[in-house]
Amino acid sequence: MRTVIVTGGTDGMGAALVRHYLEAGDRVIVVGRSREKFDGLVASAGGGERARFVAADLSSIAESRRVVADIVNDHDRIDALVLAASYIRQRRHVTAEGHEASWVLFFVSKYLLVTGLAELLSAAPRPVIVNVAVPGTKPGAIDVDDLESERAFSFAASNAQQRRANELLGIAATAADPRLSYLTWGPRRAVRSSFAGDYTFALRLGATVFGLIGESPAAAVAPLVALIENPPAARHAYRGAKPVPLVPGPDDAADLARLLAAVDESLSR
Ligand SMILES: NC(=O)c1ccc[n+]([C@@H]2O[C@H](COP(=O)([O-])OP(=O)(O)OC[C@H]3O[C@@H](n4cnc5c(N)ncnc54)[C@H](OP(=O)(O)O)[C@@H]3O)[C@@H](O)[C@H]2O)c1
Repeated sequence: MRTVIVTGGTDGMGAALVRHYLEAGDRVIVVGRSREKFDGLVASAGGGERARFVAADLSSIAESRRVVADIVNDHDRIDALVLAASYIRQRRHVTAEGHEASWVLFFVSKYLLVTGLAELLSAAPRPVIVNVAVPGTKPGAIDVDDLESERAFSFAASNAQQRRANELLGIAATAADPRLSYLTWGPRRAVRSSFAGDYTFALRLGATVFGLIGESPAAAVAPLVALIENPPAARHAYRGAKPVPLVPGPDDAADLARLLAAVDESLSR
């Protein structure tokens, strides 16, 4: 039986994947905030005895570390790690731990999960990590001297930085295990999800329109399910089923080393 972890597995595309894997007979670890949503999902999908809920706020470094420790303690092998937790903040928000919430949710927690679960993933015959995000990055998008946007914050710059950082994380992860498949995957078009977040009126209106015209989460993740079934080794990016070219930077290795040094330094504070 495969073991699949889905962060953000209580709603939207994450929940559609959880439903799929429960119906397929796999073991699923769902990381999210709402126990109520998890219970509802399991009640309608069935297979509750193969589903486990790990309640966590992944914008917390301590909680992200607890999730890793908890999973490592109870499992020997992870076949797929799907990173789909999302909470859109258009404004800078500092958590009780003193860190910028979106940077932790969209990068630091993924970094902790990817590195902390690397050994369990390596125990799988064809391990796969999926970063659910809009594919495409800009090489110069990371400010290592201001990772948490203390000097200046813009939603677009913060989003671009997270996307680039997750691509560099993929370089590190696939270098550590060449059998690993690291996929950056986004839907081919807007999806009728919960659009969890703290939006301005204009963006909330846009999300509502997407909610009306968007594709169902189950239809949106169908191409992703096919990719996870037969994961190509190394790094790849897709929009739906369509490959999207990766954007190599002029010096990815040096950028990765600078990023990891800055993140490790901030985690040791
Ligand atoms: N929807 C689209 O059209 C679209 C398009 C392109 C890319 N994407 C990307 O696809 C991914 C999934 O999006 P979605 O729209 O399907 O998701 P969604 O419906 O907004 O659901 C978000 C999920 O993330 C969880 N979550 C939120 N904050 C969390 C936190 N602090 N800690 C742990 N879990 C947290 C939520 O858990 P609870 O419900 O339990 O709080 C929920 O399960 C995102 O990365 C998004 O950027 C979406």
